[in-house]
Amino acid sequence: MAECLSPGKSEAQERGAKMSVVLVVHGGAWAIPDELAKASVDGVKTAAREGFSVLKRGGSALDAVEVAVRSMEDNTVFNAGHGGTLNTDGEVELDAFIMDGQTLASGAVSSVKNIANPVSLARAVMEKTSHMMLTSRGANLFAESIGTAMIPTETLVTEYERKEWKKHKDYMTGVMEDFSTRWAHDTVGAVALDSAGNVACATSTGGIRNKMVGRVGDSPIIGCGGYADNFSGAVSCTGHGESILKVTLARLILSKMEQGKSVTEALQMSLQHMGDRVQGAGGAIVVSPSGHWAATFTTERMAWAAVEHDVLWYGLEPLERLKEHWLQ
Ligand code: GLY
Repeated sequence: MAECLSPGKSEAQERGAKMSVVLVVHGGAWAIPDELAKASVDGVKTAAREGFSVLKRGGSALDAVEVAVRSMEDNTVFNAGHGGTLNTDGEVELDAFIMDGQTLASGAVSSVKNIANPVSLARAVMEKTSHMMLTSRGANLFAESIGTAMIPTETLVTEYERKEWKKHKDYMTGVMEDFSTRWAHDTVGAVALDSAGNVACATSTGGIRNKMVGRVGDSPIIGCGGYADNFSGAVSCTGHGESILKVTLARLILSKMEQGKSVTEALQMSLQHMGDRVQGAGGAIVVSPSGHWAATFTTERMAWAAVEHDVLWYGLEPLERLKEHWLQ
């Protein structure tokens, strides 16, 4: 029982038990078009395998979520890092967040440009500064100061994104509807539980296509795009950022788990609330301190994958849950 634990110790540490490890990833909740469906599913499966390898070797949840998210940032099918969406100026501005459930330390970057892996920069903010978020020019100055490679915007932009951006120049024509059409293109994330019983989350995004310059969504905001606490679990969210911000979705999900709801109930109730209260669509992944996990969404599709007990689970369509044996 979480309320009986000593501060700073997880349930597993308290019991002296070795936890079974779990890694869950998502590649964004939106109306993924058929032409991106296979690549999206392949991409989350690869990311889940890479992140789970870290846990298998006895690595930390924090390292595992960073590795999984970097894998999706490097994959141009996803809206994060390479493949990020363009803002009204035709620039890529990236947001990312990472959080350690053992200490509640977190780091975030927002509106950062010209870097490939904002999740690693967010981790550097967490580990190398006394702050929790750096934005825009400040984030870029910090990136340069720690030797992060700067790359031209064009390197991050795909031909697919340039074409879609040209077709959809006006952000104000209804971004809410966009999450049920092909115009939105959203976010990647990962949550993990390691063998020491620690949880972590990471989330990374290019935001919304044709967003205003400087617009920041939910992804880098603590309690909204993600949250991790060894005493309740870890969450990474995806979907319409302004809606997620209004209901502080990640914390909402965890608060329902703290009240005794299962991971699936907590996810479904919270997404339903976001739909009813602010008409927002999205999705989330969650892992509890005891290793229960779920992946749910209210958009048309969300590519997700999870690995536990050497089985890889994955899906794209609502209620789809496919299975493969873990291959190293
Ligand atoms: N969910 C990502 C964003 O709205 O920026």
